Amino acid sequence: MADQQGADQPNMVKRAQPAKLEQNAGSNIKQVIGIMSGKGGVGKSLVCGLLAVEARRKGLKVGILDADITGPSIPHMFGIDTQRITMIGKLLAPAITSTGIKVMSINLMMNNPNDPVIWRGSMIAGCVSQFWTDVAWGDIDVLFVDMPPGTGDVPLTVFQSLPIEGVVIVTSPQDLVSMIVNKAVKMAKEMDVPVLGVVENMSYLKCPHCGERVDIFGKSQIHDIAKEQGLQVLAQLPIDATMAAQIDRGRVEDVEEGLIDAEKVVQDAATVRVKDALIGSGFTFTTDPSQA
Ligand SMILES: Nc1ncnc2c1ncn2[C@@H]1O[C@H](COP(=O)(O)OP(=O)(O)OP(=O)(O)O)[C@@H](O)[C@H]1O
Ligand SMILES: [Mg+2]
Repeated sequence: MADQQGADQPNMVKRAQPAKLEQNAGSNIKQVIGIMSGKGGVGKSLVCGLLAVEARRKGLKVGILDADITGPSIPHMFGIDTQRITMIGKLLAPAITSTGIKVMSINLMMNNPNDPVIWRGSMIAGCVSQFWTDVAWGDIDVLFVDMPPGTGDVPLTVFQSLPIEGVVIVTSPQDLVSMIVNKAVKMAKEMDVPVLGVVENMSYLKCPHCGERVDIFGKSQIHDIAKEQGLQVLAQLPIDATMAAQIDRGRVEDVEEGLIDAEKVVQDAATVRVKDALIGSGFTFTTDPSQA
């Protein structure tokens, strides 16, 4: 559990260090960021994909670990469903998208990607761990982990076994948004993983004809909820028919630029790591340096 210092400030939590999985000889991953939600279907995979695409556009070396074993959607979004995972020595080589993002997903290992994965939770969790231990990721500046929905077995495995630097919480603007965000925030806090911010997806409708913004769900509550939780709002993404069509055609790398500031998310995660190191060394903050 978090100690008292900074326990009420999610970004200043001192993390306990349970035994995390080691990186293998074929991997040099500098940073790991999870994308999660307390609920399914809110656009986690989309946000994960967009973060990866934007980070890549900024010149970073990017990977995506698709931890949604029973509902993998990353390969389709990047149009790489027909690629198959190969071996480099004893390790697996990830697939590579057209802009150079490395992807590991169970769907890239199935004979028929349309077949369901019918495994017990422990097997699914084991598979996610192997995507870390048995894959030659090479040099990666940031690895985004697309989590399955909810707060169950697999998110738990991801938090406990991967060196997650921080999580991005995704939500949609509906009645239960507060509860959904709270669940995800609480899980992250329980696991001593900082929450880097929240993304409200399907925030408003972008008219396909004139581009006008229509608040179909009424006034968004996300800023109030984020304030309540001490979180920053990273982005409010529209329901966009053009984007939906691009994703469906496997062209997420063509989605318009600037929907989400991935560079800031990566920098924030690095800042948290520095704070952690200082807190771990006994240093105490009198002010929050990220506000300077
Ligand atoms: N802002 C958006 N505009 C248009 N379509 C969207 C938007 N966000 C998501 N979608 C579409 O909604 C569907 C669900 O999104 P996505 O797969 O990202 O959700 P998810 O939270 O990852 O779902 P799951 O919980 O099943 O993993 C996808 O077909 C996606 O293309
Ligand atoms: Mg998903």
